[in-house]
Amino acid sequence: MTFIRVETLSRRYGNIAAVDGISLDFPTGSFTALLGPSGCGKTTLLRLIAGFEAPAEGQILFDGKLMADPERQVAPESRGVGVVFQSYALWPHMDVAGNVAYPLKTRRTASTEIATRVGDVLEIVGLAGFQARRIEELSGGQRQRVALARCLVADQKIILFDEPLANLDMHLRASMVDAFRDIHRRTGATIVYVTHDQAEALALADRVAVMSKGKLLQVAPPQEVYRAPADATVAGFVGRGGLIAGSVKEAAGGTAMVEAAGHRFKARSGGKATGPAKILLRPEALRLASEGFAARVVDAVYRGPVYEVRLALATDEELVLDSIHAPAVGELVHVACSDAWVIPTA
Ligand SMILES: Nc1ncnc2c1ncn2[C@@H]1O[C@H](COP(=O)(O)OP(=O)(O)O)[C@@H](O)[C@H]1O
Ligand SMILES: [Mg+2]
Repeated sequence: MTFIRVETLSRRYGNIAAVDGISLDFPTGSFTALLGPSGCGKTTLLRLIAGFEAPAEGQILFDGKLMADPERQVAPESRGVGVVFQSYALWPHMDVAGNVAYPLKTRRTASTEIATRVGDVLEIVGLAGFQARRIEELSGGQRQRVALARCLVADQKIILFDEPLANLDMHLRASMVDAFRDIHRRTGATIVYVTHDQAEALALADRVAVMSKGKLLQVAPPQEVYRAPADATVAGFVGRGGLIAGSVKEAAGGTAMVEAAGHRFKARSGGKATGPAKILLRPEALRLASEGFAARVVDAVYRGPVYEVRLALATDEELVLDSIHAPAVGELVHVACSDAWVIPTA
């Protein structure tokens, strides 16, 4: 069972709607990131899919079969789902092999087969030969790899990850991102990956579902979420950039003529509406030039290999761009713009 359908799903805690009427399909073999700020309901949605929570409204289907509605819930262990949490949830008194083999032991798999499969998954997660190591001897990254191996050994067709990299340092996170991509390629499992880290979501998933306050704001491939955010919240949460108030003069066929910050320029647009709008300007579409928006340099921070330059327009709205050279703080500059996006809804 691999196709997950979530229909008008809700879960409340007291008067907080942790998940508030979400409908979303997770096609077989897809890799979906649930992205949103802390408290927006990502974990609750994941726990509902896994079966650790029951819905107040709506239903969850796997391949058309009912897993949960307010009256009936299939037990988590009967859903065929693998779950990896932020806290590794390993047994400290067992060695690596013991932890990884656990799901197979509960299924009474033959011990020779267990040894082979444990060896195989340890290799996949980059821990070949670690069978006899004690959990206490392992670093955080290694522990998370053990948790990953334990999930993989069960060979489930649905794998749920809840911020599996949240406790790791930046360097380790990057290498784990590669491990997750590899696992998706090898297993073809339907993966739902919860994170509040937009870089992780964009790098990993073939689809990003952006959540806020228990609701879905946008579900789209990473490139689209970045280039064409559905609203100002998504634009602010994914990537850097400046949102400025403007006015759409004409719009047709995906392109609009807009006026903002005293200039008239072309922007991409999802609709035909004219009138007031917010315009998104991403850093890579902006550069310091001899003409364009007039702006004052607020600061320039070296991020390596470029300076992140923050600029204030006459309207006090902010822009951000990357520059090899650092302009002086307070300097008046001009900014040329090669791409912009009209935010569809305010
Ligand atoms: N067991 C619980 N009891 C009460 N409130 C909860 C519980 N779990 C989650 N919540 C609340 O539900 C909302 C969503 O939480 P959660 O799903 O954990 O968000 P996220 O994973 O996006 O950080 C938050 O306001 C949180 O405080
Ligand atoms: Mg969470």
